[in-house]
Amino acid sequence: MMRGKDVLEVACARGGGARYLAEVAGPRSYVATDYLESNLEICRRTHSPLENLEFRLVDASEIGDIFPAASFDFVLCVQAVTHFQDARKFVFGASQVLRPGGGLLMCDTFQRDKLQAVLDAAEEFGLVADATVDISRAVHAVGLCRMPSGRLAPGALRGPPPPPPARRPPAPVQSL
Ligand SMILES: C[S@@+](CC[C@H](N)C(=O)[O-])C[C@H]1O[C@@H](n2cnc3c(N)ncnc32)[C@H](O)[C@@H]1O
Repeated sequence: MMRGKDVLEVACARGGGARYLAEVAGPRSYVATDYLESNLEICRRTHSPLENLEFRLVDASEIGDIFPAASFDFVLCVQAVTHFQDARKFVFGASQVLRPGGGLLMCDTFQRDKLQAVLDAAEEFGLVADATVDISRAVHAVGLCRMPSGRLAPGALRGPPPPPPARRPPAPVQSL
């Protein structure tokens, strides 16, 4: 889907997803942004450079001011829209920087009213919702668990040791 395309990722955090997609999905260019310099510093330090991958300090609400109009085929935003102060302005910016036929891909844990607000903004700025997939049933089916907090002793999250490999009975000796 992204092969040969120009991709803008908004709110990339430490850049693991960006590094992975830039390598395996084969985009022509992948610009990964976040508004925290500390995150970008980690991105640049952690990930070995790729020719098509660039990390930039950009606030989500400013993508429409920073990047030229119609310069990306995809705008990708994973687990971040609900963090944005101004999600409407982000959606507006996405509508500006996307080329005709381009796609805004979002994945998040939305409450219904927040999701509706984002979908309304998308419609307002001329984006057409191709698909919204609600995976909450699958999440509930798997179940949520409480995460331990505080410092963990080394190995505290390790499960029990694996059972020893099953012993194979010796192969029967064939008589000639
Ligand atoms: C939960 S993390 C998700 C990160 C990443 N997309 C992932 O899936 O691992 C939320 C990210 O949103 C970024 N963020 C929050 N508000 C932002 C804004 N206004 N502009 C750009 N990035 C923002 C934070 O710095 C953080 O990296």
